[in-house]
Amino acid sequence: MIVAGVMSGTSADGINVALVRVSADTGRVSRPSPHKHLDFTLLGHEEFPFPAPVRRAILGMMNAELARVADLSRLNFLLGELYAEAVAKAARKHRVKLDLVGCHGQTLYHQGVAERFHGRKLAATWQTGEGAVIAARLGVPVVSDFRPADMAAGGKGAPLVPFVDYLLFRDRHRNRGVNRIAQNIGGIANLTAIPAGAALGQVLAFDTGPGNMVIDAVMEELFGKHFDRDGKVASSGRVLDGVIARLLRAPFFRQKPPRTAGREEFGREYVSRFLEICRGASNADVVATATALTARSIADAIQRFVLPRFGSPRKQGGHAMIVSGGGAKNPTLMAMLRNEIASLGIELHFSDEFGLPAEAKEAVAFALLAHETWHGRPSNVPSATGAKRAAILGKISYA
Ligand SMILES: Nc1ncnc2c1ncn2[C@@H]1O[C@H](COP(=O)(O)OP(=O)(O)O)[C@@H](O)[C@H]1O
Ligand SMILES: [Mg+2]
Repeated sequence: MIVAGVMSGTSADGINVALVRVSADTGRVSRPSPHKHLDFTLLGHEEFPFPAPVRRAILGMMNAELARVADLSRLNFLLGELYAEAVAKAARKHRVKLDLVGCHGQTLYHQGVAERFHGRKLAATWQTGEGAVIAARLGVPVVSDFRPADMAAGGKGAPLVPFVDYLLFRDRHRNRGVNRIAQNIGGIANLTAIPAGAALGQVLAFDTGPGNMVIDAVMEELFGKHFDRDGKVASSGRVLDGVIARLLRAPFFRQKPPRTAGREEFGREYVSRFLEICRGASNADVVATATALTARSIADAIQRFVLPRFGSPRKQGGHAMIVSGGGAKNPTLMAMLRNEIASLGIELHFSDEFGLPAEAKEAVAFALLAHETWHGRPSNVPSATGAKRAAILGKISYA
């Protein structure tokens, strides 16, 4: 079947649509290893930036202390329309007839860890973008709202992409196989570590920390730009090592996986503290330091939590990182990251080398997750989210 995967991440830069042909031995729902034969072809990928006022509205409502219920409700329907238009345009351009859509939606709030609320300890998450609208406009069923089912099963609702990373990037050979780390750098950076020959249950996945979020915010604040195009500003600055060392001492970076992050951790408040700590430095140095924070926090997390699981590279085929997400387009960030992980014995690669354009991976992931849901199969990875059991993810809107 042909499935469109729709992703719009915490960067709120726009909508990514991946058109995927999935051919699967659908098997029976209860088979012990039902995903073994999932196979797919990427038919096309398109990116649609949000109109500026919509981006402003989304950024304003994420974690807002104050937002009007009417506006939140309207945003849900507006995004439904925009997602549907994006999918329709992509499908027309690539001349494909869709069978199903998987839409992640726009996260307005994510709190993976339970906190007290009116007498109960609860975790909560909210992705908006009305599936019923998408289904009605496109005339095909839509799977949306993937995260709550994992949380209801005791998980943190994130990360969900590890299921797909495992299918795409694992090295099946235990002997002399390559240990792989799928590293996505969106607003937040997250990784999936897949030891050579590992079963799905042995996959480790967690958020390493900021991806582009701090860089973008600092660029907005100091240069009035959405992001540091091609890493130009960062490449002209010097990294403030003392600042990085201080920031990496924060509890988040020491927290053991599973762990998740969002604008709650690295949004507005974090950035104003970051700017305060950098006071007196040149603007370019501040951007270089924000960029280095991403690279070093990734390497730091790998050293602490991933390498101990991988064992000695000499006995195996080595370690490789496969980068995806918008951060892959920032050469300064990539140079810093390559340098950081080289000292850990890890080679840097791009998902493009595996046939997946860096900016398309997450959208592809939600196409495959929707496919699994449609066939009644679970697709969370309990070892990654901390869920007590496997769960079928998402809600289905019928056309
Ligand atoms: N040419 C580029 N140079 C530098 N950074 C880029 C470039 N293209 C994209 N990015 C970064 O990638 C971000 C978007 O990444 P994306 O993977 O879409 O994140 P999200 O999933 O959070 O939406 C942008 O906000 C920007 O920081
Ligand atoms: Mg994006």
